[in-house]
Amino acid sequence: MKLKVLVLALVVAFISSCGGEQKKDQKVSGEKEVKEVKKEAKAEETADPMKNKGIGPITNVELAEIDEAMAAEGKTVFKAKCSACHKISKRVVGPALAGVTERRSPEWIMNMILNPEEMVAKDPIAKKLLGEYLAPMANQSLTEKEARLILEYFRTKKGK
Ligand code: HEC
Repeated sequence: MKLKVLVLALVVAFISSCGGEQKKDQKVSGEKEVKEVKKEAKAEETADPMKNKGIGPITNVELAEIDEAMAAEGKTVFKAKCSACHKISKRVVGPALAGVTERRSPEWIMNMILNPEEMVAKDPIAKKLLGEYLAPMANQSLTEKEARLILEYFRTKKGK
């Protein structure tokens, strides 16, 4: 009887010590990952913002001459879906958007419109903006086409 208890205790001790080792390994590799992610984020933050395409469905936008008809449609969508929080030349809930196409890539702008939740959680520029504006940018459930029209409208609103 005593022997059985002793064996059982040994087995339990052995199993739990194995588990402990594994946990330690996991923790070490987890810490390494966190460090690497931090390093990447820092590199992105200091890189040229026009090279940052953001995170979301848009990976490549080809721009041609400004299409005035598209820009006019974009203005209508902007007034309906965005003007509660944005003005072109003045900060309101969100940033003034004059000149936004000169400080952000077209892909970044469209991803910010279509995927703001992930952008403010993971993209270094969007994260910084959230830190400054405190209110999160709302997802207005636009289609990619509507987002593209708004981008065209923004292209007609260069900075001062
Ligand atoms: C509920 C308010 C709200 C609405 C609605 C909203 N936004 Fe925003 N937007 C913000 C805030 C606040 C920020 C700054 C980032 C943050 O805090 O999340 C922002 C950031 C942005 C940026 C980045 C600006 C920069 O300086 O880089 C763009 C572009 C943008 N919004 C476009 C739009 C468009 C287009 C719409 C309409 C489809 C829209 N937003 C609707 C609040 C809003």
